[in-house]
Amino acid sequence: MRIGMIGSGTVGTSLGTAWASHGHQVMFSSREPGSAEMMALVAAAGANARAGTPSETLAFGEVIVIAIRWDYLPSVVAGAGDWSGKIVIDATNRFGASVSGKSAAEDLAALAVGAHVVKAFNTIGAEQMPHGQIDGEQLSMFIAGDGVGKASVMPLVSQLGFRPIDVGGLDKARLLETLAELWVSLARGGMGRNFGFRVVGG
Ligand SMILES: NC(=O)c1ccc[n+]([C@@H]2O[C@H](COP(=O)([O-])OP(=O)(O)OC[C@H]3O[C@@H](n4cnc5c(N)ncnc54)[C@H](OP(=O)(O)O)[C@@H]3O)[C@@H](O)[C@H]2O)c1
Repeated sequence: MRIGMIGSGTVGTSLGTAWASHGHQVMFSSREPGSAEMMALVAAAGANARAGTPSETLAFGEVIVIAIRWDYLPSVVAGAGDWSGKIVIDATNRFGASVSGKSAAEDLAALAVGAHVVKAFNTIGAEQMPHGQIDGEQLSMFIAGDGVGKASVMPLVSQLGFRPIDVGGLDKARLLETLAELWVSLARGGMGRNFGFRVVGG
């Protein structure tokens, strides 16, 4: 599968490098794709990786991962091009009040017109994203979005070792965004970053 990472920071690097190692073709986006930093990232991720601008990355990917801060997300999404038909994984968290009254994922879906937006990977630290387990225990990955999007995203989640948990439609993304607030509160409250959520049974 061709996967475009819009955002090549902590999250984009972690997920993109992992999927490239599983044989997917990955493009990492940057406003400066030719920078030394991006060249080093591509070299480290191996033969399945390349770098491009956000527009090139959107055009490249069948699946697009949004892994940038919310401050600049609207301008990046608006400037990237045509989103129709793209499967979009929203890994972001927006800390602060919602202007629309909706979740960040629903606001993203309104910006990325025609895309199938799926909320995933926002409830775990970037360090855990490539392997889906801690101390041999499998982590759960909560996923919300439409059926078309989830059909593509679930196998990608499983490939990284997580147990995918289908939470429902994109209207349920607000639950995942609140769960991420709990993760951050626990991490900052003394638990550190080496933990994750796991559903037992079900
Ligand atoms: N870090 C985690 O453990 C974690 C876990 C779960 C979810 N999240 C969420 O995932 C998202 C990404 O987090 P991150 O830690 O990976 O972010 P990050 O490292 O801050 O992201 C860096 C990326 O943002 C781009 N960027 C920086 N300034 C920009 C600007 N002014 N305009 C456009 N693009 C700009 C950079 O592109 P250039 O190369 O062009 O500068 C780079 O690709 C956030 O919403 C975060 O809340 C993070």
